[in-house]
Amino acid sequence: MKETLVVDVSTPGAIEQAAEVIRAGGLVAFPTETVYGLGADACNPTSVARIFEAKRRPSFDPLIVHVADSNSASFYGDLSGEVARRLTEAFWPGPLTLVVSKTSRVPPIVTAGLDTVGLRVPAHPAALALIRAANRGIAAPSANPFGYVSPTNARHVAEQLRGRVDLILDGGDCPVGVESTILALTAARPVILRLGGVPPEQLERVLGPIERFVGNVARPQAPGQLTRHYATHTPLQISKGNELELEIRPGERVGLITLSPPQCRHRFVAVEVLSESGDLREAAANLFAALRRLDSLCLDRLVALPVPEIDLGMAIMDRLRRCAVPWEDDPAMP
Ligand code: TXA
Ligand code: MG
Repeated sequence: MKETLVVDVSTPGAIEQAAEVIRAGGLVAFPTETVYGLGADACNPTSVARIFEAKRRPSFDPLIVHVADSNSASFYGDLSGEVARRLTEAFWPGPLTLVVSKTSRVPPIVTAGLDTVGLRVPAHPAALALIRAANRGIAAPSANPFGYVSPTNARHVAEQLRGRVDLILDGGDCPVGVESTILALTAARPVILRLGGVPPEQLERVLGPIERFVGNVARPQAPGQLTRHYATHTPLQISKGNELELEIRPGERVGLITLSPPQCRHRFVAVEVLSESGDLREAAANLFAALRRLDSLCLDRLVALPVPEIDLGMAIMDRLRRCAVPWEDDPAMP
């Protein structure tokens, strides 16, 4: 196992040091406004291969290329259409990934052989500075082992990927906390492939009504569509009623995850309140760290109370539902 450097973004020279690792073909975990990414030079196939190795990620899974602005995005994909222009103007930099036809500059390993590429301009200053300093697109999935909850701080990354990544750029907590929304612009009409940081209502304000992809889990276009993904080791269920109606066996150790404070805490070994004021934005930012904290307690069961499915509540419920399916019910997982 090799050593992983952890460098605070505020350390003088930190961005340049990380950029040098990328240019030299290494792996850098870096903060974005959504979750931490595990990045490599998008045009260096050997470096990109190391991402799959580090994540133990199946190779059918295409990566997002992170760029500094729409101009550099055009180097990797076709953003010439009117719809792409309106979207990039409205939402970049920000948590929106656009899937478009790729150019010949993107090596097949990045797109898993697809002729489309996912492109995104992240809104985090450290991510943008890193991309600019490296002076190239950075291919990056979320910096977690395949299938597990995404990391929203540098400690999450270090706990699971230490020794598998050259440098972790520590930029504190990710402000959005759920991954980018993925929108495909490859058919006649835009299609949402993954719910995320830009709620559908916001996209629809710019584009009018948009379709949601209803995935075929055996042949996912985005692993975010796998039935079980973003998952804890401890089984998680989504409760139908409130926490008072929940049946708990004597001696059973249950953790509760809830948007607002519960009426009755004492039946649970641990309670994670995502937002004291019931704010969905704050809840999204806290979701993955809360799931990790509960998962680390080795409880018998986790129970999540549903959150309202508006705005970021849709992405939150999407992640909780994917976390909640038992492994044996998922045809796409071993
Ligand atoms: O917020 C995010 O998007 C984070 C940060 C690091 O940018 N990244 C992220 O990457 O969540 P990842 O690899 O964990 O999820 C990206 C999703 C995958 O489900 C992948 O299949 C999908 O994007 N994707 C990438 N390129 C695609 C393409 N050409 N067609 C369809 N789906 C694509
Ligand atoms: Mg991921």
